[in-house]
Amino acid sequence: MAGAYAKPKLDYLSANKEPMIPRENFPSEVGQVIAWIESFFERLESLPVKSQMQPGQVIEQLPKEAPVKGEVMSDILNDLDRIILPGMTHWQHPGFHAYFPANGSVESLFAEFITAALGAQCMIWDTSPAAAELEQRVLEWIRDELQLAKHFEGVIQDSASSATLVAILTAREVKTDFRSNEDGVPSNLRVYCSHETHSSIDKAVGIAGIGRRNLVHIDVDDRGRLLPEVLKERIQSDIEQGYIPCCVVASIGTTGRLAIDPLAVIADICNEHDVWLHVDAAFAGTAALLPEYRWIIEGINEADSFVFNPHKWMFTNFDCSAYYVRDAEVLIKTFEILPEYLKTKSRGQVNDYRDWGIPLGRRFRALKLWFVMRSFGMEGIRKRLRQHIKLNDYFSEQLNSFEDFEVLQPALLNFSLFRYRPSGEFDQEQLNLFNQQLLDQINRGGKAFLSHTKIDGMYAIRCVIGQTYVEKRHVDALLQLLQETADNLNQGAKR
Ligand SMILES: Cc1ncc(COP(=O)(O)O)c(C=O)c1O
Repeated sequence: MAGAYAKPKLDYLSANKEPMIPRENFPSEVGQVIAWIESFFERLESLPVKSQMQPGQVIEQLPKEAPVKGEVMSDILNDLDRIILPGMTHWQHPGFHAYFPANGSVESLFAEFITAALGAQCMIWDTSPAAAELEQRVLEWIRDELQLAKHFEGVIQDSASSATLVAILTAREVKTDFRSNEDGVPSNLRVYCSHETHSSIDKAVGIAGIGRRNLVHIDVDDRGRLLPEVLKERIQSDIEQGYIPCCVVASIGTTGRLAIDPLAVIADICNEHDVWLHVDAAFAGTAALLPEYRWIIEGINEADSFVFNPHKWMFTNFDCSAYYVRDAEVLIKTFEILPEYLKTKSRGQVNDYRDWGIPLGRRFRALKLWFVMRSFGMEGIRKRLRQHIKLNDYFSEQLNSFEDFEVLQPALLNFSLFRYRPSGEFDQEQLNLFNQQLLDQINRGGKAFLSHTKIDGMYAIRCVIGQTYVEKRHVDALLQLLQETADNLNQGAKR
């Protein structure tokens, strides 16, 4: 339906109006945008999941100079279709199984639309009391649904990366008696995480001035889980050598292979040595809403901070990261700066979330969580999570029965790890190459998008089934695609 947008009735320029849409024209103009979104949803499954564009192909279609005269919305929407859409990778496509999802929902979209209409900058309570109080309430709902202890207080961050940075900065201040903000960071602080932990920890340690050389990567077991006894030994030997253990980051659901670190044991070690424990459950945390998967965060109530992303698997479109902290006072003490122009009468009685993170300006993100949680209900959220988990179990079982595929670890949540393994004698290098070829062919074909990781040098394909509207027929289509692509590769090899 590209190019199907009727020109608006008014020609603003010839009518000598302001070259922009007057707000009173919203009702007559919005239909085009809704029609575009409707048509996008209708076309979504037929669009290539991964953009097929080559580098530079989008920018060369965009004029080098900014538009001088205002243009009509139908022209802008036509170019959205013609230039932008082919350059998009479709994260809401049911064939999107790469990385971790960033799923959304109709409810979340509605809320985003309204958030933009309200256009509020919710830096402090005074600049929109409802935004601050709704944020507090929805995060209390989630805290209780996750069975986190009441001492946890929540704040929405833009991403898990920011939340982890906030955690590490707070840990740094606590450990240095709040001197690092004033005097600079001592060079002997240490942070610990496993080799499988997300790169956002490396980034945060660098930004926090702790120095990446002071980030200690701990070995993992054969399932990618941090080895607590190695952590313990390392902390002890660091103390003996004059280092100050500052923070441990435990991962609940690593990006490569969804490893779940043994949180309760790690918490004991942190308690013993008075080290801040931050828990990164960016993707998998949502699963702890299911009583049968609450075990993945067993020990969480001993942690100092915890992050998970509703924007990954809780039907709330990017960005929305829920960050919880055991002692909000130390968080605020780390980030608070109070210039005269931000002093308010309500201070001290309310949450001024600008003091709970890095940016001053804040989007009204709580609204979309509220829309999703109210419209789905916790029942609806749990039902859909279980559907994804069931679909993944089915996917993994089917794949296991395929001759040319090897499932590399038991299905966990909605995540599978596997590789293509044709019959015959092949060494790891050859198998790695086959798997790269398989993945390239699938991703180039546009019907599905998968990503990979490496485990001890072995190329492994990851598949996450987390699209809000994914159904069994999509999983069947993926299985068929894998089988057909493998058959093609087999035939090519024989020729
Ligand atoms: C385990 C883990 N932690 C942190 C992140 C970073 O998340 P964000 O994009 O919200 O910064 C990711 C991203 O996929 C992740 O998988």
